[in-house]
Amino acid sequence: MLEAVKELLLEVKKFVPTSATELEEFRLSFLGKKGKMNELFTAFKDVPNENKKEFGQTINTLKQNAQTKVDQYKDSFKVEEKSSEIDLSRPVSLNNLGSRHPISLIRNEIVEIFNRIGFTVSEGPEIEDDWHNFSALNLPEEHPARDMQDTFFIQSNPDILLRTHTSSVQVRYMQGNKPPIRTLSPGRVYRNEAISARAHCIFHQVEGLYIDENVSFADLKQALLYFAKEMFGEKTKIRLRPSYFPFTEPSAEVDVSCNICNSKGCNVCKYTGYLEILGCGMVDPNVLENCGIDSKKYTGFAFGMGIERIAMLKYGVKDLRLFFENDFRFLKQFSAL
Ligand code: DAH
Repeated sequence: MLEAVKELLLEVKKFVPTSATELEEFRLSFLGKKGKMNELFTAFKDVPNENKKEFGQTINTLKQNAQTKVDQYKDSFKVEEKSSEIDLSRPVSLNNLGSRHPISLIRNEIVEIFNRIGFTVSEGPEIEDDWHNFSALNLPEEHPARDMQDTFFIQSNPDILLRTHTSSVQVRYMQGNKPPIRTLSPGRVYRNEAISARAHCIFHQVEGLYIDENVSFADLKQALLYFAKEMFGEKTKIRLRPSYFPFTEPSAEVDVSCNICNSKGCNVCKYTGYLEILGCGMVDPNVLENCGIDSKKYTGFAFGMGIERIAMLKYGVKDLRLFFENDFRFLKQFSAL
């Protein structure tokens, strides 16, 4: 009899439940009304007196061990029990997904369009030195064209400034890479301008640079026409107007046909049928030389555009400040894009 109890002790010791049901079966078989413990306590009466002490102690230990086992595992299967309570037929509550900022959307679209004709992205610092932002780009000190871009300087060191355009990244790229070069530099730029519906002291630009042997103005025009059609639609036309930038010669400003009025004239295009989108030109040989590229062997074109401007035209946004206010009612409208 005692041997049988000792075997039961061993059984309890070895028992490891794998489910709540198994644990419950174990509990009933030992501790339930019709369980083994009750049987043993009944049998205890018939045990000869001289064995009662040892037998009694052993079955008490058995009972305690069985109870400890149950206590030890009773919390382990809570999740399993709970999962059976989940109502799988209930409609799900949808997660509120965020959306990309319209400036990121347009940036990515511009990058993708130029990726397809072999341009890759390059980046550079927003805090620049005078040389990369101005001097290397054919804007020596005292050059009047420096006033075209009102600059934020660091007071303690006027050589350090917040870049006014991402052309500074092109300078860095030309210094570090040999032609052929096809690179696109998107990024944030800063200008000391009064904030209005049309201007901000922080905005975003994408600049493009292509340098190789025999790159011509015709290549520039073709690349920009391709871009305009991809961005604004197959019927889009472009128009180049002569302009001036210190780092390009010749330089031009590019307009796209107004797709709101089909170039017939409306208040968005101010009845001209065209909208200005970017500046461009053939990289000035001085700039190539400043950056260590042989200007007798290589020529190149460059262009630069404001992402906000493209986004305003593409999405019909009338106030540039909206891009910086993070007003949910504005941003939510781009969640499907
Ligand atoms: N950097 C000029 C600006 O910020 C834009 C620009 C014009 C960039 C002509 C170019 C370019 O690369 O060729 O106003």
